[in-house]
This record gives sequence, structure tokens and C-alpha cells, in this order.
Amino acid sequence: MTQDELKQAVARAAIDYVVAGEIIGVGTGSTANFFIDELAKIKHTIKGTVASSEATAARLAGHGIAVFDLNDVESIAVYIDGADEINAGGAMIKGGGAALTREKIVASVSKQFVCIADGSKLVDTLGAFPLPVEVVPMARAAVSRQLAALGGTPRLRLKAGTDQPFMTDNGGEIIDVLGLQIADPVALEQQINQIVGVIAVGLFAARGANVCLLGTADGVKKLA
Ligand code: 5RP
Repeated sequence: MTQDELKQAVARAAIDYVVAGEIIGVGTGSTANFFIDELAKIKHTIKGTVASSEATAARLAGHGIAVFDLNDVESIAVYIDGADEINAGGAMIKGGGAALTREKIVASVSKQFVCIADGSKLVDTLGAFPLPVEVVPMARAAVSRQLAALGGTPRLRLKAGTDQPFMTDNGGEIIDVLGLQIADPVALEQQINQIVGVIAVGLFAARGANVCLLGTADGVKKLA
């Protein structure tokens, strides 16, 4: 099976976690896109969605699925999203698609987080994937120095094909931190959150996934 077929299989399996009559939080990225396409088939059974990015909102709306502003929503039954890395405890690195801040916000108000990923995303130790950190642009250099002091190599994410910084949906910039071996994801998340100028860090450990559906050649496996 191709990686896309594995992503499609977990996206299909995640439909079992959609709660009828409720609002569903929807993540960002290629796996989340497959999920949106599956959700479209049962859109009449849900009240609507909250999107974690402009791209996700556009795809949901394109399918005729209602998208609510988070400020108009009291609770979200379940949040379904992909990951760049996940460990057996449900801690994740996210933000390869630059949507980490809104993903974290939507996840934080959701009763359950269901991670959907192809099997290659499961790791023993987080950190081989560069850790994304969204920052206020004027703090880019100051935050980078502090991230370097934590042992990583910070690299500013650029807009594809340019030498200009990539800009997020929130007007932030992304620093990708290479070379970290994250032995204690909860502690590192806390530490990076405390750096002034950081909007959000792509470590989802204090609030990790409650369920992880992994696409493998032997079928969809559930880590819980
Ligand atoms: C976006 C994310 C994505 O969930 C993560 O990058 C995985 O993407 P994909 O499903 O395309 O492999 O965190 O900010």
C-alpha cells in the first residue's frame, strides 16, 4: 500500500469516532484532508465542524459542511487530526503543515483527540522530525537563541521558493528546531511555552492523543 492509501484507511476508520449531532474539530494536512472527504459522506449526521486552519475551513466548506467560529461553540465532541510523529504514550510533534497553534486551540476544547497517521509516524523518541515553534515575528531571533540553548538547531521556515519567512494563518512565523531528542515531551513543552515571543510549540504532550489510529500494511491498528 502507498502512504496515501494508509492515510486514507485511517481517515475512513476515524469516521467511527464522529459523534452524531455534535460539532467535530478537524485538523490540517493530507491525512486530515482524506478525513474531510470521508466526513462529507456523512455530513447530514453532524451539527458542524470547527476548523484548525483556513485551508481546512475551505475544504470543509467546499464539501458543503458547516464550519463554526470557535467563539460560537461551547464544546467539541472529538478532534481528529494527523501528526508528524507520535509515541506510544500519545505525545506528538505537529505543525509540519504550520497549523500548530489553531490545532492546539481546537484540541484543547475537545473532549477527545483522535490522531490518524500512517504507521511511519510512530516513534520511540520524538525529535527526528524538526520541532515547529510559532513565534511573533519581532521575537524570531531572541526565541531562536533560547531554542539553541536547549540543544536544538533553529531554522526559520521560508515560503516555498523564496527567501522570505513563511507566514501562518495567525501572522506568525515558524522556527523548525532540528536535532532534539525529546526524552520528556511534557517538560520540554512547558519550557518552550515559557519563552516570551512563542505563540505555540508543536509538542502536543500535556494534552496528547486519547486514541491513535495507525495505518499499516496489516490494516488499521489502534493505540490507546
Ligand atoms: C499540520 C499538522 C499535520 O497534522 C501534520 O503535519 C501531518 O500532516 P500529514 O497528514 O500531511 O502527514 O500538524 O500542522
